This record gives sequence, C-alpha cells and structure tokens, in this order.
Amino acid sequence: MGSTDETLFSQVADPVTSSGNKVTVVGVGQVGMACAFSILTQNIASELVLVDVVADKLKGEMMDLQHGLTFMKHAKVNASTDYAATANSRLCIVTAGARQKEGESRLDLVQRNTDIFKGIIPQLVKYSPNTILLIVSNPVDILTYVAWKLSGLQKNRVIGSGTNLDSSRLRFLMSQRLNLSPTNCHGWIIGEHGDSSVAVWSGVNVAGVRLRDINPALGSGNDKENWEDMHRQVVQSAYEVIKLKGYTSWAIGLSVAALAQSILRNGFNVHAVSTLVNGQHGIDKDVFLSLPCVLSENGVTHIVKQPLTDEEKKMLHKSADLIAEVQSRLII
Ligand code: NAI
Ligand code: LAC
Repeated sequence: MGSTDETLFSQVADPVTSSGNKVTVVGVGQVGMACAFSILTQNIASELVLVDVVADKLKGEMMDLQHGLTFMKHAKVNASTDYAATANSRLCIVTAGARQKEGESRLDLVQRNTDIFKGIIPQLVKYSPNTILLIVSNPVDILTYVAWKLSGLQKNRVIGSGTNLDSSRLRFLMSQRLNLSPTNCHGWIIGEHGDSSVAVWSGVNVAGVRLRDINPALGSGNDKENWEDMHRQVVQSAYEVIKLKGYTSWAIGLSVAALAQSILRNGFNVHAVSTLVNGQHGIDKDVFLSLPCVLSENGVTHIVKQPLTDEEKKMLHKSADLIAEVQSRLII
C-alpha cells in the first residue's frame, strides 16, 4: 500500500523559493494582532511571521490565526521568538513596546520603547537587509527616527504609521457632520502623531470643493461653525478610547494594512506617514513627522509638495522643535 505522502506528484526539479509578500509583525499585543488580522483578511501578505518575547502568547496567537486560514485566501502563518524566522521579509511592522496608561502621553513612553527597539531593529535588518520598516509603537515619530538610526537603512525604507490614523479620524468626524461617506471626505492631519498634530484646514474638501472657499474662517479661532473643535476631538480620540477600553487597536490595524497594501502592491498611493522631513517647509532638523507621502515597493518614493498657510507652517515647526527636543535627550 502506497503512503499518503505520495498523494502529490512533484513536477519541479529545481524549486526556487521567492519571499513573495512576506510580512513580519513584531509584538503580538492588541495592535500587532489587529495589524496581522487586517493584513490576512485583506489578502495582503503571502506569508506572515509573528515575533514576540512572550512565547506562549505568541504560539497561541499563531495557532488561532492558523485555524482560520481555510476562511481566507491562502497565506502561511508562522511565529518565533527567533528573528531568523523573519528572514527575507519585504515589510517588517513593529508594534512592540509599552503603551500609554490612562492619562499618559505617547511621549512618556519614549525611553522605554527606545530601549526595546535596540533589541529588535538590528535583528530585523540582519535577516532582511532589503526590508521596509513600518513603525507603529509610540511615540511613533521619535521611534521611527530611532529605527532609522539603529537600522542604517535609507530614509525611504523607514516609515512611521504617523497621522494616517489621525487623518482617518478627521475624515470620519467630517463624514458625521456632513452626512457623507468617510471615503468622500478629504482632509489631512500632518506633523506629530500626537498632541501637536496639524489639521490642514486649507485643503479640507469634498469632491474638490474646498470648505474654506465656502467658510473662509474654517478651522480658525473665529470660525462660527467651530470646525477647530473637530481637530481637538481627533487629538483626544486616543485618550478617550484608552479610557473606555484600555487601548486602541482596530483603527490602527486597518490603517497599517492600508499602508502595507500600498507598499506590497506597489500602489503609489498617498498617505500621511512619518518620514524624514529635514528640508521640507523650512525644517532643518533630522526629525520624522507626517506629510502626504507616495508609498510604493520602495517605501516613501515622494513627498507631496502640499501648500501650507503661514499658520500651518508655524504649527508644523512647533511639532518639529518639540520632537527634536525630546530626541536630543534620548540615549540610543
Ligand atoms: P500591548 O501591551 O498589547 O502589546 C505590546 C506587545 O509587545 C506585547 O505582546 C509584548 O510582549 C511585546 N513586546 C514587548 N517587548 C518586546 C520585545 N523586546 N520584542 C518583541 N515584543 C515585545 O500594547 P499594544 O496596545 O499592542 O500597543 C503597542 C504599541 O503600539 C504601543 O507603543 C502603543 O502606544 C502603540 N500604538 C500606536 C498607534 C499609532 O497610531 N502609531 C496606535 C495604537 C497603539
Ligand atoms: C492612537 C494612539 C494610541 O490610537 O497612538 O492614536
């Protein structure tokens, strides 16, 4: 009697293995798993590798995803505490680290998570020297700078999830106010993913119709329609959700999946992501902040030359100065 191992007749004499769309997610906490689940269910990766320091949770999350693979288009799911398993990843997403406790700001996490990065980033680049790093851990702009420094990769290959999420929050709030689908409400939050982010009110539009052409005071201090309060709600979003459920996860997971799709499918889509902005809008420091960027298989290929008002530029510089000051005290 033959062995069931002979069920398949091999047709390939000299198999060549390509890395396909191999994606690594470091950190299988609330955010890492939301990223992993979004990427898998949207069929963005051909192989997903999970890494964490807590071995049992890591194996449990891997098995739980594997048990659902028959309901998804095929992808391989693996996990390991050994970075060798991440070899040849086209994209490495880093969500490892401490998260804010209620009342804590993202900046309060900076040294703790910088120290964690020292054990992660060099390992990822060792096994995937041509990878693109997508940083999510907070404070994401500073940790993207830290990852750039620790990795030695070109600036276009080190990206922070940045204000892609903040912009989505603004667009949702716009949709609620205008009774439109969020995908038809266009607005950009730039700068720091955090308390000093900048709403580009001069560009907010629906179908190309700038709301400021209808309400010239839009978003300013003397705006009778009080649109500025919408940006305040965006900045408060995370604190409110953290107070209610302890963390944020689903929106960032979907945001990261959108970024991963643009990168892995060579999409040339524009997203507000954290990139090295030295030389942009008069900034002369090595800081990572969010601007509208074109994402493709080479990471950030272009930065959109977004016109900003003097006020918007002033606020962006304030973000840059704040980030630079925190960075100056970091031990990398
Ligand atoms: P969590 O505590 O649920 O998960 C963190 C995971 O990192 C844990 O599984 C932990 O074991 C792992 N970890 C810790 N040290 C590690 C190391 N050295 N190597 C590998 N894994 C390690 O936290 P959560 O809620 O998933 O948040 C993770 C990070 O993402 C936080 O810094 C949080 O602030 C940030 N975040 C960023 C957002 C953004 O928009 N950029 C949005 C939401 C969260
Ligand atoms: C957010 C925080 C946690 O959800 O970065 O925006």
